[in-house]
Amino acid sequence: MTSIAAEHLASKTPIVLDCDPGVDDAMAILYGLRAPEVEIVALGTVWGNIDVDTATVNAVRLLEIGGRPDIPVAKGAGRQLIGTEPTFAELIHGPAGTGSTILPPPSGQHTGEHAVTQMIRLAYERPGELTLVAIGPLTNLGIALATDPGIATRYKEVVIMGGAFLWPGNITPVAEANIWHDPEAARIVLEAPWPVTLVPLDVTEQAQVTGEMLDQLRDTNTPAGTHLHLISYIYLSAYEARFARREAAMHDGLALAIAVDPTLVQEAPLTRVDIELNGAHTRGMTVADLRPIPNLERANARVVLKAEGNRFVRRWFNVLASWD
Ligand code: RIB
Ligand code: CA
Repeated sequence: MTSIAAEHLASKTPIVLDCDPGVDDAMAILYGLRAPEVEIVALGTVWGNIDVDTATVNAVRLLEIGGRPDIPVAKGAGRQLIGTEPTFAELIHGPAGTGSTILPPPSGQHTGEHAVTQMIRLAYERPGELTLVAIGPLTNLGIALATDPGIATRYKEVVIMGGAFLWPGNITPVAEANIWHDPEAARIVLEAPWPVTLVPLDVTEQAQVTGEMLDQLRDTNTPAGTHLHLISYIYLSAYEARFARREAAMHDGLALAIAVDPTLVQEAPLTRVDIELNGAHTRGMTVADLRPIPNLERANARVVLKAEGNRFVRRWFNVLASWD
């Protein structure tokens, strides 16, 4: 490990995490609870992989499994800003966002504060300190910006798992799920004057967790290892059906890891990113100016095109496997 990476891993980065757990969200959240370089300050939940009520129950349960029931969970938006009724991803994440397993409810509850209110409050309580990491649709972030644009100068940076640039989409040929679910919210987020890093499918599809790793985590007999193995069957099988190998992308885990250890990033040009809203075939597409000489006058995001996904996966596994 380089000394720069060691420096990043030596200090804790305080994170507000907006999530839609969801299986790969769960892999990210449990990593965040265990990794010494991460301080999860609060969780906000949003619809996406599953309905927001179920995502909220799953978030509370994950904190209990990770031994941190003290971390607040605030329930957020249950649907996209514009459009018809929301659709969810049960075929990938299971009918309750926990794969093929239906689990008893956790003993705890969400705080009753709305995720948007929590997001705004924390921006003012800890100005310049917090990194906002979004690993679900951007509805909460869009509403927060519309409610109080001032948060854009109070978060240190925003890291988003979202988009597909030199890689196919996963919902349509050109659109990635988190952006496609609420493209209007994504546009609001990208128009705001805050530092945005997009962690797209281009790199998250290279951060693959294998069935063998999950078997080994089960064999640790820790609550986290047992839970992740339990909820991952459908997620792994969905990937195996497509790619004929029992491994699956840790989209959200890589985004969280990059937020706390930027040395994982190998190529991330600052450029202009627009969201297609109207195309019959391209709605939800992330359109970046990746020309050799881009027009940087309206640059609004760093797009991570290359990252050390394998180094993240090794660290993710070692951190979770060493959970005593
Ligand atoms: O496209 C991948 C993203 O959509 C991940 O955040 C996954 O959890 C789903 O929300
Ligand atoms: Ca997610």
